[in-house]
Amino acid sequence: MSITSKAELLGMQKVGEAVGTTLKKMRDYARPGMTTQELDNFGRSILDGFGAKSAPKLTYGFPGHTCISINHEVAHGIPSEKKIMKEGDLINIDVSAELNGYWGDNGGSFVLGRDIHHHKALVDGSRKILLHAIRRIRGGVRIADIGRYIETEARRSGFRVIRNLVGHGIGRSLHEDPKEIPCYHDRFNLKRFKTNSVIAIETFISTNATYAYEQGDGWTLMTRDGSFVAQHEHTVLITKKEPIILTSSNEI
Ligand code: CO
Ligand code: CO
Repeated sequence: MSITSKAELLGMQKVGEAVGTTLKKMRDYARPGMTTQELDNFGRSILDGFGAKSAPKLTYGFPGHTCISINHEVAHGIPSEKKIMKEGDLINIDVSAELNGYWGDNGGSFVLGRDIHHHKALVDGSRKILLHAIRRIRGGVRIADIGRYIETEARRSGFRVIRNLVGHGIGRSLHEDPKEIPCYHDRFNLKRFKTNSVIAIETFISTNATYAYEQGDGWTLMTRDGSFVAQHEHTVLITKKEPIILTSSNEI
């Protein structure tokens, strides 16, 4: 959406705070031995406290309130009583929600407890690349240039990017124009970021694979070679200068 009034800005700030705070509290709540269902239930209670509703549930009928993906699961992992988180697991939580007609989206990967499987470089790389990419966005900057930046920085750190998972416009619904903000260099994409528009920008940084495929459950995305992938995502308002991160209550 394009922000045209103080009321719209306030609406986006509120939903940004709701999803950002929910993600932060879920990450702090996660413990080895806990199921992803228990973590999702906790996330729901935080969203409820804000009066916010799960976006994937509202929009797609997702069987959970938040997406929780563990280890080889890249994205859209379904919370489950059968999935028990362990020390050293690579966990991704993606929280998106609707509040008073405004939509926000925020995600982050982290290592649960001690980094016994050495995921930290991947996680830190994804987080830093996202924050540096956000700093480069301005009204008028080409979307392809930000994709190129993310891909180049990933390669510089010895990683690749997932090509079929992308950021997107957001605001009055979960996915709006621009429909695709890739984290690779798509030279055919001639679109530019617009001042006053709101986007959800996300990195999908991979140890090797460049595509993620839907599994038999109809939701979970995984690579075919068992790569690990870290994702970080913020909802941001584009200005003529540095963008304003609306989901910064989670300092991923
Ligand atoms: Co998301
Ligand atoms: Co998103």
